Amino acid sequence: MTTKRSKSSERWLARQRKDPFAQKAAKQGRVSRAYYKLEQLDERFGLLRPGMRVLELGAAPGGWTRYVESRIGGRRGGSATGVLVAVDFRAVNAAADTVVIHGTLGTRETAGKIAAALENSRVDLVLSDMAPNITGIRASDQALAMELLELAVVAAQTWLKPGGGFVVKVFQGEGIDDWVRDMRKIFAKFKLVKPPASRPDSREMYAVGSQFRAPAQFLGDS
Ligand SMILES: C[S@@+](CC[C@H](N)C(=O)[O-])C[C@H]1O[C@@H](n2cnc3c(N)ncnc32)[C@H](O)[C@@H]1O
Repeated sequence: MTTKRSKSSERWLARQRKDPFAQKAAKQGRVSRAYYKLEQLDERFGLLRPGMRVLELGAAPGGWTRYVESRIGGRRGGSATGVLVAVDFRAVNAAADTVVIHGTLGTRETAGKIAAALENSRVDLVLSDMAPNITGIRASDQALAMELLELAVVAAQTWLKPGGGFVVKVFQGEGIDDWVRDMRKIFAKFKLVKPPASRPDSREMYAVGSQFRAPAQFLGDS
């Protein structure tokens, strides 16, 4: 029996077959082509080091998760004692010593699980590749993307150590210029970039912030 594919999934498959990063991901056995976006950002900005504590939001299917694991070392074996907490409501392909939280950022339940997994201690880096389900209606898609962006910023402000780093997926559109202006008050360095593995026809970009300026009241705690 043959199953008939929808026009949109036919288009997606045709695009994947031609995409050099999708081809490379299949050849190298990566969980997703998104792996290369984080690799390229890391090569450019020096984001990850052995022993780092990292909070990753919107982690499924796990391309970034696998990349982070390869850079920070595990909790057990080896000399590095990196910690990774990865959050998504979809399944994440991760190593046994990564803490995967199956939950939705923005809910109280998930916030509690993150706090417990991090043992209420701050992290060196917050990563967010969260993306909304696209409806095709540009204004509502942008509003959904901005909501996820705000959730990622709240997580960064809650969990980053002073001096920490932040990488977040951004969709160019209404509200982004004001958002970048605000972020420049929170991070000493802040840039919007498009890694080569991000599809050229997508409005997707990544914001990379470093040297988090923690409010004075944070400086006394963990
Ligand atoms: C582009 S994918 C991430 C790809 C991933 N970085 C990788 O390398 O495989 C975006 C993910 O964001 C997740 N997401 C969207 N909104 C979320 C939310 N509120 N809480 C948790 N995850 C969310 C989706 O479930 C989806 O898996």
